[in-house]
Amino acid sequence: MTKITISLIKADVGGYPGHSSVHPALIETAESKLENAKKSGALIDFKVMACGDDLELLMSHINGCDCGDIHALAWSTFEAATEKAKELKLYGAGQDLLADAFSGNIRGMGPGVAEMEITERKSEPIVAFMMDKTEPGAFNLPIFRMFADPFNTAGLIIDPACHGGFTFEVWDIMEHRKVMMNCPEEMYDLLALIGAKSRYVIKRVFSKPGCSISDKEPVATISTEKLYQTAGTYVGKDDPAGLVRCQSGLPALGEVLEPFALGHLVSGWMRGSHNGPLMPCSFDTAHPTRFDGPPRVIAAGFQMAKGKFVGPVDLFKDPAFDRARQRCLEITDYLRAHGPFEPHRLPMEDMEYTTLPHVMKTLANRFEKAE
Ligand code: F6R
Ligand code: MG
Ligand code: MG
Repeated sequence: MTKITISLIKADVGGYPGHSSVHPALIETAESKLENAKKSGALIDFKVMACGDDLELLMSHINGCDCGDIHALAWSTFEAATEKAKELKLYGAGQDLLADAFSGNIRGMGPGVAEMEITERKSEPIVAFMMDKTEPGAFNLPIFRMFADPFNTAGLIIDPACHGGFTFEVWDIMEHRKVMMNCPEEMYDLLALIGAKSRYVIKRVFSKPGCSISDKEPVATISTEKLYQTAGTYVGKDDPAGLVRCQSGLPALGEVLEPFALGHLVSGWMRGSHNGPLMPCSFDTAHPTRFDGPPRVIAAGFQMAKGKFVGPVDLFKDPAFDRARQRCLEITDYLRAHGPFEPHRLPMEDMEYTTLPHVMKTLANRFEKAE
């Protein structure tokens, strides 16, 4: 059976106004580029979406992960959108296109990439999560809870197909190395790592033998690109995106969404320098404006049908997430009252890639020896 590859590739190529949202003209530009690619047979299907100032390209094809042609298509789509952004003088036009020209693989060039190659099941529900004003580690807590926490996912206890647990692929994004960890056996070790979310990030989750999913296929994947490492200087947070398959031996749709009812604390927000609650919101409210935030997550639900995206359903539009939003607003008031003080502002080591070190440099020669 032909495998289908789902590629979710995103970039900030210009905001409007400031860093708050994507102009509709950029979405139209991207849609017309991808429509041509679909007509030529390069893509099976696509959806163009937006979260905050990030343009999100969801594509299906049969070329596997890391396909040069697909990455080139995404790159040229972002370039076309950048042209439009420049014409409209949008803010930070081309911000995430860090290289002058495409060179084979889009990873490390600015855009974020979440891809997985799957054998489409009899019925394949999938959720595309897109976040703005935060970083890849923001996915650690919810992905852990979906696939390893029985207080979140009842299926881990009562569904024999889930009961064996899942395998997590964790990346150390400072040292560029990775480790595979099985849950529930190695849960405490896994948490020792992923609790440090600015360094250890969940890249993929795999089913274990005995699950209904084909062996060695990912069931979740997250973009883990680090913009500041690529650019060498702060150019905005590497707002992440992820894909999660659901149901029939995997966490149910509701178990996949449930962790976002917390409004957990993530780093990002204003100038990529603050902790704040991750607010689940509807597509049409994913425009972070209060203090450039608080950080947002949207969830687009689809059924796959031979590579076609049937959807999306705006999953966080559900009023059942209203209380989570309310709590996020209360936390926002509380944290904002701290102004420039930690822990609202990130600790010094996490400020290394922001503009703060430039300010610190000007203070350096003011210091004298203390007794
Ligand atoms: C956060 C973000 C914004 C900007 C802020 C300052 O990821 O993108 O909060 O950091 O608006 O932006 P500049 O320096 O472009 O004026
Ligand atoms: Mg921006
Ligand atoms: Mg953004």
